[in-house]
Amino acid sequence: MTTNGKFQLFSSADVKPSLGLGFLESTEPPLPPPPPSTEVISSEISSSVKYTVEPVNLGGLTLLKGRVSTNEVLGLPNSDLVPGIYEGGLKLWEGSLDLVKALQSEIQNDHLSLKGKRVLELGCGHGLPGIFAFLEGAAEVHFQDFNAEVLQCLTIPNVNANLLEKSQPDTASKARFFAGDWSEIHQLLPHANESEIDSEHGQATGYDVILMAETIYSIFAQRNLYGLIKKCMIHPHGVVYMAGKKHYFGVGGGTRQFLSMLEKEGVMAATLVTEVADGSSNLREVWKLSYK
Ligand SMILES: C[S@@+](CC[C@H](N)C(=O)[O-])C[C@H]1O[C@@H](n2cnc3c(N)ncnc32)[C@H](O)[C@@H]1O
Repeated sequence: MTTNGKFQLFSSADVKPSLGLGFLESTEPPLPPPPPSTEVISSEISSSVKYTVEPVNLGGLTLLKGRVSTNEVLGLPNSDLVPGIYEGGLKLWEGSLDLVKALQSEIQNDHLSLKGKRVLELGCGHGLPGIFAFLEGAAEVHFQDFNAEVLQCLTIPNVNANLLEKSQPDTASKARFFAGDWSEIHQLLPHANESEIDSEHGQATGYDVILMAETIYSIFAQRNLYGLIKKCMIHPHGVVYMAGKKHYFGVGGGTRQFLSMLEKEGVMAATLVTEVADGSSNLREVWKLSYK
């Protein structure tokens, strides 16, 4: 449901779930043009915004989660998101915790290795799944968020805090950060489009693993997100791990709606990795996507 263009729709790890029937109202909102795509250098960390950390326990693994004020960072009142201006990156959403736990169990069950992999986290916010990938030996992790301010004030400090805590300062230097809209960001991402170019030379490049949590709430952004995934995911062995709610009441998106788009196109297959009941009739899920 929309109040002055601000959504208070679904649950973050800090906020209790709110469920409505607003999906009936889901017409495409007139959005401002997206901010220009840019790479944020890790030294461009904000020193003026207060950043505090607290531990978050993920089944035996403790990561650090930063906290900043939306008002201080973006001059906006505390809202989950403001479509086209702020897309929710300053909050820690439950899906990102589900995703880290699912990755842990995939690794334990020998279904996944992140060692030496090129990883892209889309819609990163705090970046905990990408940080986890580093801790599991990923060669490179590229973090993307809609807002440069989120990267400067939260993601970069979070990567530094976690990797310094685990005595991996060299690893932090292999992280890169990109801000911009999913419709345009492939122009900046170092390994995007490579699969198309290099398939001609018989050499596969691109990202091995794409991680994303709580990115599919808006049906209007999903097509661009899917287009970006196809430009980034290495052929044929690339995978996407996607965490999200089955339905996002109020905006019409959700895992099932996203997967039906994939099914119609027939390029990728999806496997359910985990389901998490959140105490309401809605489910949180983690899916693995791969080329057919
Ligand atoms: C609800 S937040 C989830 C943040 C984080 N993954 C988590 O689970 O805590 C949605 C994320 O997707 C990004 N995002 C949403 N719409 C986007 C768009 N059109 N282009 C680029 N990024 C977008 C936001 O910046 C934000 O990082």
